[in-house]
Amino acid sequence: MQNNSDFFNRPLVLTPGFTLPSRAILSPMEGIMNRENFFNAARTLRLIDSWMPPFIGIPAGAVPRDVTLKKRFSFFLDSGIPFTVQLLGHDPDSLAETAGALYRIGVRSVNLNCACPSKTVLASTSGGMLLKQPEIIIETLQKIRRNVPDICVSLKLRSGFRDPDELKELLAAVREGGIHWVIHHYRTVSEEYRDLPRQEAVRRLQIVGEELKTIPFFANGDIVSPGDAELYRAETLCSGIAVGRGILNDPFLLRRLRTGETVDPGLKQEFLHLLTSGIPGKRGEHFYLECVKMAYGADSPEFCAALTEQKNRRVGKSRE
Ligand SMILES: Cc1cc2nc3c(=O)[nH]c(=O)nc-3n(C[C@H](O)[C@H](O)[C@H](O)COP(=O)(O)O)c2cc1C
Repeated sequence: MQNNSDFFNRPLVLTPGFTLPSRAILSPMEGIMNRENFFNAARTLRLIDSWMPPFIGIPAGAVPRDVTLKKRFSFFLDSGIPFTVQLLGHDPDSLAETAGALYRIGVRSVNLNCACPSKTVLASTSGGMLLKQPEIIIETLQKIRRNVPDICVSLKLRSGFRDPDELKELLAAVREGGIHWVIHHYRTVSEEYRDLPRQEAVRRLQIVGEELKTIPFFANGDIVSPGDAELYRAETLCSGIAVGRGILNDPFLLRRLRTGETVDPGLKQEFLHLLTSGIPGKRGEHFYLECVKMAYGADSPEFCAALTEQKNRRVGKSRE
């Protein structure tokens, strides 16, 4: 399938104060993208042109102070790249107040996580659990819009909690809440990361496009090649695509989608080194191994070589 860089490279104006420069974006991944290293590596190699780091948890009544938010996010804000903060929580007032605090420190876009299937997150009645209570999603959206009229508001969704038949009702509720855009992962929360036929993914994403009508959505789930992205573009009404795990296997995927260029595969090693450089000691070593495993696979020669290299280094150190 032909890569349509004209489509993916087009900016998307979402509010007067927030525009995505392109339609090929990263989907946040807790534990991988939290580090400034990831952002630096991705910026240096022009892998991304907008940024949404993993969620920040907002328990009821625990709105972070402006100074805390500033400390956490000024690095990204100062970079000038369009930047979205993802919120995880279930208390509409606390979430709306946090959006207000974020706006005060310069953030122009927030996203509410209604998708996370992790057991801990579900137990806190946040993330994917919100799909069982669309009224909380609506109340949160309305309170954010009222509290911070100029902020761009989006949702990260899945296709229902248990059954994709929940999708239509859910999207009607979401439209009522008033949002500027959506990132939609095609599985339900209960399906976690289970394999599903590609036609089923496309079918669900088609429903999303039909139900959201003029609200732009980014299709997400199992995009590991330009062909996968192109399939979603051609077969659904998506305004763009969001890639998560695929970025580790092919760090240059988004860049290739945007520009249509071919990228030297050797740059993958450079990406992994940039990603993990500066993290000291065993933490750094462990993170590097995790990244190589995700990038090349646990059975790959690259992962075996990285393991051997690390073992040799440890032996060398113990002899010194
Ligand atoms: C380790 C890991 C951490 C994740 N953390 C987040 C997160 O913080 N926020 C979020 O919206 N999604 C999170 N996700 C979901 C991804 O953004 C994405 O929706 C999901 O992996 C499916 O897309 P993919 O098939 O392209 O990976 C995470 C996924 C993984 C594997």
